[in-house]
Amino acid sequence: MNIMKRQLCSFPNRFFSTAKNVIKYNTIQDIRNKYITGTPLSMCTAYDFITATWVNRANCDLLLIGDSLAMTSLGYDSTITLSLNEFKYHVASVCRAEGSSMVVVDMPFGTFESGISDGLKNAIDIMKLHSKVTSVKVEVGSYTKDKYTMKFIEELCSRGIPVMAHIGLTPQKVHSLGGYKVQGNKSLSQMQELYETAMHLQKIGCWSILIECVPHKMAQFITSKLSVPTIGIGAGNGTSGQVLVISDLLGMQGDSVPKFVKQTVNMSDIATQGLKEYIANVEDGTFPERGTHTFKVKEELWNEFLSSINEK
Ligand code: KIV
Repeated sequence: MNIMKRQLCSFPNRFFSTAKNVIKYNTIQDIRNKYITGTPLSMCTAYDFITATWVNRANCDLLLIGDSLAMTSLGYDSTITLSLNEFKYHVASVCRAEGSSMVVVDMPFGTFESGISDGLKNAIDIMKLHSKVTSVKVEVGSYTKDKYTMKFIEELCSRGIPVMAHIGLTPQKVHSLGGYKVQGNKSLSQMQELYETAMHLQKIGCWSILIECVPHKMAQFITSKLSVPTIGIGAGNGTSGQVLVISDLLGMQGDSVPKFVKQTVNMSDIATQGLKEYIANVEDGTFPERGTHTFKVKEELWNEFLSSINEK
């Protein structure tokens, strides 16, 4: 998708008033167009300006600012403890990175559970954090048991706030799910619920559905019945696209990752090795190297300085 080129070309025919070309990143329509061609969509999480720059440079279609950053980047032992204020800091940092990846932002636990109006206010606050924030993502349980979140999502969609719904394993509901477990594989009723939930979410206006940790047959079946893209994580290759958490993908915390991750590099080893080399260089005096890593002062000025000190 050459969004930058398309946007610049279409600028002379624009239908809005602005002093500059404002949309330089993938839109929901761009994502939809790619989905229609059947080409799998790529999505990856990012935590800050640096990781977001990598995701954008690699031309990932979508960038997720997921609340998993609480556990993978901030050291919490669940996503539940993350506050909206802490999260906002990360959203702002990610959005400062340039590039075409479309930004989707999680609604952390506690930002919508207390009431629809609180939830709407927080969703609006998140959308207002940066013009690049294109959609919120909301974790939701089954449509029969989690009627409240269904209603909340419906309210968001009806107000023009784009929603990617997140079903299957929803880490914010870890306690009611009884742990981080595969979903939609235990009983017929659980499988039917998962399917009906996805269909209902499409009906109430979600532009996309993220499916986490469900049997690949279920994810493929649901995808085939929907006309909005699905993004899978631990859901096999029958979804419309894939998402991974950047620290798992790039081995930022070593090589211990969930079963569904294909790690492409082990950055933790590379970083530790680089740091060990730095420490060795500092200790043996080979860093900093005079001439290469140092700055000069004119000899004449230096002598003048020494004499001025000696004179004192
Ligand atoms: O928070 C997150 O990063 C997520 C992914 C696991 C999909 O929701």
